[in-house]
Amino acid sequence: MSLSLRPITENEWSEWITLDEEAFGSAIPPHRAELFRGTTEFDRSLGAFDGDLLVGVTAVCSFTMTVPGGPIPVGGVTAVGVLPSHRRRGILSALMARQLTDLHERGEAVAALYASEAAIYGRFGYGRAADNLFFDIPARSSALAAHAPADPSLRLRVVKPAEARAVFEKVFEAVLDSRPGLYARTPARWDAVLSDHEADQRGAGPLRAVVVEDDAGPRGYALFRIKQAFTPHDVPDGELRVGELFGLDPAAYALLWRHMLERDLVARVRAGQRPVDDPLIHLLAEPRRLNAGWLDDLWVRVVDVERALPERRYSAPVDVVIEVEDALCPWNARRWRLSADASGARCVPTDDPADLTLPVTVLGAAYLGGRPLGALQAAGLVRESRAGAVRELSTAMSWEPAPWAGLVF
Ligand SMILES: CC(C)(COP(=O)(O)OP(=O)(O)OC[C@H]1O[C@@H](n2cnc3c(N)ncnc32)[C@H](O)[C@@H]1OP(=O)(O)O)[C@@H](O)C(=O)NCCC(=O)NCCS
Repeated sequence: MSLSLRPITENEWSEWITLDEEAFGSAIPPHRAELFRGTTEFDRSLGAFDGDLLVGVTAVCSFTMTVPGGPIPVGGVTAVGVLPSHRRRGILSALMARQLTDLHERGEAVAALYASEAAIYGRFGYGRAADNLFFDIPARSSALAAHAPADPSLRLRVVKPAEARAVFEKVFEAVLDSRPGLYARTPARWDAVLSDHEADQRGAGPLRAVVVEDDAGPRGYALFRIKQAFTPHDVPDGELRVGELFGLDPAAYALLWRHMLERDLVARVRAGQRPVDDPLIHLLAEPRRLNAGWLDDLWVRVVDVERALPERRYSAPVDVVIEVEDALCPWNARRWRLSADASGARCVPTDDPADLTLPVTVLGAAYLGGRPLGALQAAGLVRESRAGAVRELSTAMSWEPAPWAGLVF
């Protein structure tokens, strides 16, 4: 094998799709390939070639992502695949090493991704930064609690998703900065969210939408599909699948969920990829009926410690010396003094003794504010040399609300 790495050109698009289909063992319908092309930045793609044969791919989306304190540029790593004939020969490792160098040289201090399998990316310095929940709720019998907020000025409006896109965009813009992990959507990303071909429906019918609004304008929306069915005895047995649901305030949020749960002929409401602190947990009269399951959401890689740590804000003043271990990005592997207060954060190289030592995966896991360090210390990932240092850093890095991207890229 003679391996070379370079960006993939637009002329090599069909080879890229073929590789992805082989790597993932799936067929990519033509409209999905077009949507994928629309979100692809070819100059930020990276192909591995064995001679002329494309055998590995990865790409980066130039995101603006919310982190604690506000939006920053983040490299959204995507489209990772290696041709099955060439797997486990170091191709992904070569792509990841080159990509991290490219990100560093470009000045993007943080990268993020969704993983097809949770065991893949830790070795490349990515830490599990966010989790998500999925719910399987028996409808009708699962009412909202008596305390659920209600606002008589709110109305519900059934809309055609394709016609209400501007409303969704307005609501999403308004929530974007509220939660670490959310990233700004390009028009091509919205095309993908609202795509409604048969392959997108997965047997659950067309994309549907409701908007909640008052006289001043929209205050939330839900996108969903309904897989309609009846039992052999003609009892309604429909399944409502929530795609995304955003409310600008508690009353709008509660009304959207009330509608999901009370929709006629629906026996079950399924919602994937909900934030771990979803207010619905506290809105349901009987939260056990969420039948919740738990998965990893975003993985984050601190590409450049010196730039990344001051790019976010901290929940409490902190002054610690952190020894960072990072075999892939040697520019990170040293001791850093992180100090933060109300005026901002600084991260500078230091030769002072370390207060704590951790692999860069831990900084990635904690970067968005949703991963307390105590559990990672108990798992043997963080070593403390000054008593209390782990708690100080953990408190400073923690953030509310919990991180969540909510949309796979
Ligand atoms: C995952 C994938 C990209 C790995 O590519 P690869 O070229 O085989 O990876 P490498 O040979 O560089 O492996 C590097 C290391 O990661 C490990 N590894 C690779 N894939 C792994 C997986 N799915 N689970 C656990 N470990 C994995 C390898 O065993 C190797 O470990 P080692 O360094 O201890 O020997 C490839 O198998 C693939 O395309 N899978 C299907 C598509 C997919 O899941 N893509 C990821 C989308 S997020």
